[in-house]
Amino acid sequence: MTVIDRGSVEDLLVNAPTKNSKVLDFVRSIAERTTPDAIEWITGSEEQRSSLLSQAIDTGTIVKLSHPEDSYYAASDPDDVARVEDRTFICSEKEEDAGPLNNWVAPAEMKGILNDVFAGAMRGRTMYVIPFVMGHVDATQPMFGIEVTDSPYVVLSMGIMARTGDVALEAIDRLGADFVECVHSVGAPLEPGQDDVAWPCSSTKYITHFPEDRSIWSYGSGYGGNALLGKKAYALRIASAIAHDEGWLAEHMLILKLTNPEGESKYVAAAFPSACGKTNLAMIEPNIPGWKAETLGDDIAWMRFGPDGQLYAVNPEFGLFGVAPGTGYVTNPTAMTAIEAGGNVFTNVALTDDGGVWWEGMTDEKPAHLTDWRGNDWTPESETPAAHPNSRFCTPIANVPTIAPEWQNPDGVPISAILFGGRRKTTMPLVTQTSDWNHGVFMGSILSSETTAAAVGKVGVVRRDPMAMRPFIGYNVGDYLQHWINIGKTDGARLPKIFYVNWFRRAEDNSFLWPGFTENARILKWVFERVNGTADAVQTPVGFAPVAGGIDLDGLDITEEQVQKALEVKPDEWAEELQSIDAWYDELGEHVPAELRAEVEELRDRLGLK
Ligand code: GDP
Ligand code: PGA
Ligand code: MN
Repeated sequence: MTVIDRGSVEDLLVNAPTKNSKVLDFVRSIAERTTPDAIEWITGSEEQRSSLLSQAIDTGTIVKLSHPEDSYYAASDPDDVARVEDRTFICSEKEEDAGPLNNWVAPAEMKGILNDVFAGAMRGRTMYVIPFVMGHVDATQPMFGIEVTDSPYVVLSMGIMARTGDVALEAIDRLGADFVECVHSVGAPLEPGQDDVAWPCSSTKYITHFPEDRSIWSYGSGYGGNALLGKKAYALRIASAIAHDEGWLAEHMLILKLTNPEGESKYVAAAFPSACGKTNLAMIEPNIPGWKAETLGDDIAWMRFGPDGQLYAVNPEFGLFGVAPGTGYVTNPTAMTAIEAGGNVFTNVALTDDGGVWWEGMTDEKPAHLTDWRGNDWTPESETPAAHPNSRFCTPIANVPTIAPEWQNPDGVPISAILFGGRRKTTMPLVTQTSDWNHGVFMGSILSSETTAAAVGKVGVVRRDPMAMRPFIGYNVGDYLQHWINIGKTDGARLPKIFYVNWFRRAEDNSFLWPGFTENARILKWVFERVNGTADAVQTPVGFAPVAGGIDLDGLDITEEQVQKALEVKPDEWAEELQSIDAWYDELGEHVPAELRAEVEELRDRLGLK
């Protein structure tokens, strides 16, 4: 283990743009441990960005594209393409506080492991210091972080995904604010004279969180969700623990604004697991006359009670980190317009022969020749996809043409409805409204989805994913559910209505029963009108469903009969579901709130299965 002496770290720190001892002590301690060759403080200036881009192009980390403008491409190591949930740890003092769903290692033991792997980890590399703020710097409670990383790709991506640089450091200094310590290394130190590779990473990976210290240590991966630590690691795992202590919610939700033909607006938040349609719904362009949707966020919502008792949501992020495949001119023209506006970093998509990008689903017609994400020639006859199924576009949210004017409101927008949903071929109806907050929390707690390529592992297996937060709850899931119940008991709360949706139900021939995408606006319209009390509903054992003809199908080429199939509550499917819910609550153990156990019994009763 090499440790450079204090003197040389002090040399590296002479140009530090702050005198804040907490910041300097943090940066110094990481530099002493990881022994980088240099330290660079990220200011957020355009000059610095240009210089980082040129360096990253020179080392082959990124390639400049001919179009869109100011856009870059990175291909990852083929073994570093998604979040690694089995290498993700919540290191609370007590194992019970991490709960049954998280991997747990005692903090002292994990700190020992991290001591070993981080020792000298940045040798031969530059350590970048990225001050950032999640949400608006003028928020009532601004939320700061400092990520140190040895990855220029992370610096460039964080520059899109969060408000970074001087804006954050100045505020940390001015306010004497705390910040979440985020430490990241790709885990690939360079010996003198050793050539670097385009995407350095390690076969050993640790994505670790210390919810009690509010710190994050990530080792061995350069991939977004593992390495852009403001995103899932901070804004969900650490923030959920902070939110639990402080009485607010940090959730895996998009935020959108919906306006009806009379000009009345409502804000909706929706939680779907990774790669289940958040980015698409956030950018929906309704094709029902007079209805308008605008975007506020596509992945994360922080919700705090406002003075009027409503939950106000902010999107703590500044960019989109969207799943590329399936994002196209037909399915999501808004995202395509945002991408075309430039300033993107793409990862693991395919390259066109004229220096642009392509992925499955971008256009109906496949290009005759591409370079696939592994760097091989690709033609429409190739048997493997051109873009990795979890390839991503990283794009400034300001590019989104449908961005709502209030997206920069420091304290957010009041939420009228929350949607939960996942990818289920059977059982779950297209839409139902829950009967009250606790029933809504119950439906969130049993959210289930077929797994996707967004995380390493088998795809297409049904798993429970409470509030779409399974991989992101920084503490015990039972306590998290109790926190949701408690939010509902807050004095003076004017709570959003909760709905459950499933865009992915299939017919016998395996086709989707509901056309989805743009047409989901018809479901949003029903949600809006339910909130306003102007749409009728029928009671089913699992919630209120639209009456026959209740979903506006005007101009749509599907029959009411098919919609009824998508809405159907099938007793045999629900009998099976109930068994699986019982097993799920057994798995969650003793921390499951009594209120939710009561909901299961009420459901059993309504299904006639008592
Ligand atoms: P996110 O990761 O939750 O933001 O999900 P995305 O919006 O990026 O979508 C992930 C995948 O689901 C993409 O391949 C989309 O094409 C697909 N998808 C999104 N919305 C729908 C929908 O309403 N119906 C169907 N069938 N697929 C959808
Ligand atoms: P997502 O998040 O998978 O929910 O889109 C990005 C990531 O963590 O990879
Ligand atoms: Mn997304």
